[in-house]
This record gives sequence, C-alpha cells and structure tokens, in this order.
Amino acid sequence: MDVYGIIGWPVEHSLSPVMHNTAFKARKIPAVYGLFPVAPEDLKEALTGLRALNIKGVSVTIPHKENVIPFLDTLDRVAEEIGAVNTIVHREKRLFGYNTDWIGVKRALEEVVSLADKRAVVVGAGGAARAVVYALKREGARVTIYNRTWEKARSLAEKFAVEARPWEELPDARGEILVQTTSVGLKEDVSPVPREILSRFQVVMDIVYTPLETRLLREAREAGCKTVHGLKMLVHQGAEQFRLFTGQEPPVSLMEEAALAALKGD
Ligand code: ATR
Repeated sequence: MDVYGIIGWPVEHSLSPVMHNTAFKARKIPAVYGLFPVAPEDLKEALTGLRALNIKGVSVTIPHKENVIPFLDTLDRVAEEIGAVNTIVHREKRLFGYNTDWIGVKRALEEVVSLADKRAVVVGAGGAARAVVYALKREGARVTIYNRTWEKARSLAEKFAVEARPWEELPDARGEILVQTTSVGLKEDVSPVPREILSRFQVVMDIVYTPLETRLLREAREAGCKTVHGLKMLVHQGAEQFRLFTGQEPPVSLMEEAALAALKGD
C-alpha cells in the first residue's frame, strides 16, 4: 500500500484527501492519501521523514510552497520559473518538485474560454497570483495586474514581463477575462472588484471556493459573464498531481464530484 498526503499548516479542511482517495479507488490503485499538518519550523524534518518512511508523494500547500524548494533533489523548470512547488514526487530515493497550480488555472479557464490573444486582468499579486499570471502568459493572453500594494504588482509584472497598473485604476480595467487571486471573499460577502466593471468581461474566475459562488462571481453572473469558481482550479491541479503520482489518467469528473460533495458536507 503506497502512502501519499498533503503537507501544510493548517490542512484539516483540505479537500485533497477525498479527491485523491476517490481517484485511487476508481483506478484500483492500492494507495492511501492522508493529512500531514507540518508547522513551518518542522518542514525540514518532515521531508527527511518522508524519505525515511518511503512516502511516495505529497501535495504542498500554504505556507510551504516556496520553503520546500531548498530541500528537494530536483526542481522542475516550470516550478522554478513560478518559484513555488505544490507537488513532490518521491522516486528512487529522490524528491522531485513540480507545480501543477498553473495547469489548474489553465484547465479551469479553458473549460469556458480560449486564452490566446485575450486581454486578462489579474487582481492580486500574492503567492496564488504567480501561477495565474504564468498560466495566462504562457497560453498567450495579454495580462495586466492590479494589486492594492503597488510594489508587489510591479515586481510580479516584471518577473513575468507583463503589465501592472495602479490599484486606483481598477475601475477603468477592461478585457475579456478577469481572475481574482486574493483571499478577499473567503467566507465573507465582499468583493475586491467594483461591480460596475464586470459587464466588460466575458469570463470572471475567482480562486476562492468557500463559498463556491463568491460575491464577485454572483455579481459577474448577474452582469452576464461566464463564471469559473475556485474549486475548478483545485480539481484540475489535483488531477495533474494524480498523473504525476501514478502515471495514470486522472478521473477528473469523479474527483470534482467528490470535492464538491465534501465541500457541501462541511
Ligand atoms: P496568497 O499566497 O494566498 O496569494 P498572499 O501572498 O498573502 O496570499 O497575497 C494576498 C494577496 O491578497 C495580495 O495581493 C494582497 O494585496 P497586498 O499585496 O496589498 O497585501 C491581497 N489582499 C489581501 N487583502 C486584500 C484586501 N482587503 N483588498 C485588496 N487586496 C487584498
């Protein structure tokens, strides 16, 4: 029985176990996926333990996505470019780091829109924004970043050679796609985006998924936009992890159903 899991702090509410265990079962893979709460100061020892216990792979979440990098044997080129690892595969006594968050963003958006040559507005410039900007840029969208703190917007834009505009100009933003990457709206009925601008966009995505329909997505739906909730990104990044863990095709729809059911049961 192979063991997988998620390392983060906190991780109790993670939907990853239900997604991966559902996928293992569907593919008849004798493996189990559990929760590993790891405090920041214990990260190095946790990775040593992972090697010793022959844990085959882990998902990596907040706050470890950047800090795990020095403890890995090999870093995938894309993970290096994004500067964050959300997947570790343990193979032949070596730890390989990957990033599947950007694939999650790409697939979630591509369910409803093609990205090439679209103008995309990214709201926020924190850790989550990096994978979003990378995905949009790589797929050929023209990206403009708006962030409350100008310096972070400027530095993220410089890293990926895209545009940044001051936060005060968000009311003038336009494009086909808008992606909200901050935690604003998480368990709170607030939106960081003025509702008046939403009708200018075809597609609005929120990376927040509690609630599934945030205030931003509700207002976007009312403005006639197609909406993409954050659970789509979670499912697709998890599906890609499953492919890296097992080498098998992920049962994406089953993983999505399981995550949705768990979210609603919470
Ligand atoms: P994460 O890794 O989840 O992206 P983070 O790196 O702390 O978290 O980034 C949080 C993002 O949400 C930042 O872009 C932050 O803006 P600042 O750079 O100005 O801090 C943004 N954010 C958080 N609260 C916000 C708020 N009330 N209004 C606008 N942006 C907010």
